[in-house]
Amino acid sequence: MSADLSIKNLHVSVEGQEILKGLDLEINRGEIHAIMGPNGSGKSTLANALMGHPAYEVTEGEIWFKGQNIVEVPPDERARLGLFLAFQYPSSVPGVSVANFLRTAMNARRGNAKAGSNGKSPGGGISLREFRKELKEKMALLKMDFGFAQRYVNEGFSGGEKKRMEILQMAMLEPEIAVLDETDSGLDIDALRIVSEGVNELMSPNLGVLVITHYQRILNYIKPQYVHILVAGRIVMSGGPDLALELEERGYDWVRETEGS
Ligand SMILES: Nc1ncnc2c1ncn2[C@@H]1O[C@H](COP(=O)(O)OP(=O)(O)O)[C@@H](O)[C@H]1O
Ligand SMILES: [Mg+2]
Repeated sequence: MSADLSIKNLHVSVEGQEILKGLDLEINRGEIHAIMGPNGSGKSTLANALMGHPAYEVTEGEIWFKGQNIVEVPPDERARLGLFLAFQYPSSVPGVSVANFLRTAMNARRGNAKAGSNGKSPGGGISLREFRKELKEKMALLKMDFGFAQRYVNEGFSGGEKKRMEILQMAMLEPEIAVLDETDSGLDIDALRIVSEGVNELMSPNLGVLVITHYQRILNYIKPQYVHILVAGRIVMSGGPDLALELEERGYDWVRETEGS
């Protein structure tokens, strides 16, 4: 059996420049993986390529998810299949409320989804009543005020609110594999804890998470079973949770030296 998400020899170019240079990674539902890497190592490139952002060209390799190589599959279809990306820099959507945005996204994701492990039936939209109930529950989980739902998406949100909004989306969409790109950046310690607790609450045997981060800090709250170090477009080391601590202590230069690059 291959993993739920299986990335094989992935090469990705941005504006004609190769950023990812043969990356292999396997993630199963129920697992938390962390990718750590210095700035510019290609972490966001990996996240964007996984979601199918058109600026990130896969020149070689495969991404297997749900029994198919999704390299040519458009982003919205990847989302429907159960992939989710929490952006490092979420965009605002003026004029669209959080509630409307989430309901539209949920209907798009679930309407087309096969009756899955989450027990929800396919077809049809979610009723407004059901939606509100679920939104309230998930917002409570993330310690968000319900009034937040009426605000425009990310418009004037603080850094912490934007990241909470990303996790709220994840909570509502119930993906099978979620990629969190530097969800810790710009968060103070309280916001970091709330966001992390939210992710931990959402963890289940049906969800696999890839936490992308520059710093070890978030891994004090979201505990990965697997840690991978990305340097210059390649995973140069993989290990258990201890690897993150060792990296924090010794720095990326240690990895570069050990790796001989
Ligand atoms: N949309 C883009 N346009 C131009 N260059 C990009 C773009 N995205 C990434 N890059 C380049 O790819 C390299 C890796 O960037 P990125 O994946 O964002 O690294 P990280 O997230 O690890 O900091 C950098 O040199 C960056 O300038
Ligand atoms: Mg990045």
